[in-house]
Amino acid sequence: MIPSIDIHCHIMPGVDDGSPDMETSLEMLKTALSEGTKGMILTPHHKPMHHNVSPEHNIEYTEELMERAHEKGMKVQLFPGNEIYYCDNTVREIEQGRISSLADSRYMLVEFHPTDMYKSIHNALYAVASTGYMPVLAHVERYADIAKHIKYVDELIDMGVYIQVNANSVMGKYGLGIRHFTRELLKEKMVHFIATDAHDNKGRAPHLLSCRDFVESRYGEDYAIRIFHDNAMKILRDEII
Ligand SMILES: [Fe+2]
Repeated sequence: MIPSIDIHCHIMPGVDDGSPDMETSLEMLKTALSEGTKGMILTPHHKPMHHNVSPEHNIEYTEELMERAHEKGMKVQLFPGNEIYYCDNTVREIEQGRISSLADSRYMLVEFHPTDMYKSIHNALYAVASTGYMPVLAHVERYADIAKHIKYVDELIDMGVYIQVNANSVMGKYGLGIRHFTRELLKEKMVHFIATDAHDNKGRAPHLLSCRDFVESRYGEDYAIRIFHDNAMKILRDEII
């Protein structure tokens, strides 16, 4: 089977509310590998009032985790990244090179507060795009205003924004409303990436396989390969999707 690539996870040890230590990170990698995930972009939170990982440390910590995984015989490729919580300083920080893009590409993963209105999310993503980076909107289903209006997602895609959905949302972990919305997006082929947003190896573990099987059977194998592998490969190669 063509492997999956997870572009959004909090598996880097001890830097945010994700994995607390190396042992947990290695357990999480074991789970991911057992489900056919061979590549992961590590996306620690980058946000205000938070001890953010510098791009230099991001590379160092990612390589350290990958070395430890390889020592244990785990064949996984890891890449640095960030999940950027958008705020007034974001554009300045991007321009100053203080934020890690996804795998050193022109793609940036951006999140917002769940109650932020569409208009402000739209304007913020426009501002990110104006820096020359291509925004990937993290877990689109989490923003209440957008989840009520599927046409907003269409507008964002037209603007050049890429759409990421969490596997758990598709599988119903966050309720029927969110499940329904993500499945409508999948039906309309409006999703570019399904990722885990994993934070631990328990309730928010890096599970992708059941979601991949579901997408494959419901929306077709070609689309599943595209959103679990091909589009992520384009990020790794810094190609346009
Ligand atoms: Fe996240």
